[in-house]
Amino acid sequence: MAKPKVFVTRLIAREVLDKLAQHTIIEVWQDELPPPYQTLLEKARDAEGLLTLLSDRIDEAVMNAASRLKVISNMAVGYDNIDIAAANRRHILVGNTPGVLTETTADLAFALLMAAARRVVEADRHTRQGLWKTWGPQIMLGYDIYHNTLGIIGLGRIGAEVARRARGFSMRVLYYDKIRLSVKVEKELGVEYVPNLRTLLPLCDFISLHVPLSQETRHILGAREFALMKPSAVLINTSRGAIIDQKALYTALKSRQIFAAGIDVTEIEPIPADDPLLALDNIIITPHIASASFATRRQMAFIAVENLLDGLSGKVPPNCVNPEVFNK
Ligand code: DGY
Repeated sequence: MAKPKVFVTRLIAREVLDKLAQHTIIEVWQDELPPPYQTLLEKARDAEGLLTLLSDRIDEAVMNAASRLKVISNMAVGYDNIDIAAANRRHILVGNTPGVLTETTADLAFALLMAAARRVVEADRHTRQGLWKTWGPQIMLGYDIYHNTLGIIGLGRIGAEVARRARGFSMRVLYYDKIRLSVKVEKELGVEYVPNLRTLLPLCDFISLHVPLSQETRHILGAREFALMKPSAVLINTSRGAIIDQKALYTALKSRQIFAAGIDVTEIEPIPADDPLLALDNIIITPHIASASFATRRQMAFIAVENLLDGLSGKVPPNCVNPEVFNK
């Protein structure tokens, strides 16, 4: 039987590509940047499988162009770059890579939290600019992490790991999610449920976002929500940029309505060079690196390939976001 054709939209771990090449005919996009949209349409045309990244827009037109497409395997836990409704209509399986990046992402969320509260990046700039003149009682003051209150919005896998880390700092951890956890799990994690953002936000010294991007979560933090936060609040976002209304974030940081932010994601990625957020001292912006450890990226690539191969061989991939299309 002829091997199925697969288009891989970026260079991933060599050993993973070798595994994929044993079972498929692969074409790998070698550039660091994503394939231009027109190229993606062409490459998808005779592919039965696509291995994609979150920076590839896989919309209805791509699926229309790809009449043989059976499976799209996204090397990410989030899949808001893929039109799932269109995939469902065409019975195309979509895979993602949850689980393996949970701890790595929680680590970065906590790193941003600590760095923003204690002004680590700003202090480093201060030193390099030759501004370190003496030890001063008022220089580079920030906020304590220990014993303070963290509010987690979205207590799924990653949110729960952030909560565990916070316990190591003796923090009080509150959370809001649309579904409340069982009392047993709340006890195990040491978290307290708050039924809405209006109540949660004024109580928090730190707020960390861990919800997927959807119509429901787009801009859940905007001007009204920033007005509810403490002036000392530190906001962390390692989920998706569009969860926050970025213009409102700028205003809140610029006017010191909140103290600081640490974000790994922006509404447009990469953030445009003229974005006003880049001119502020009280925000740390990292380039969507929450899962970027050597081990985790390798595991993500392995899972993405497993999902792809299973989908191509007529099985439901182990991590499939729309398994219901399988029997149709
Ligand atoms: C994901 O997997 O969705 C992260 O945003 C990137 O690792």
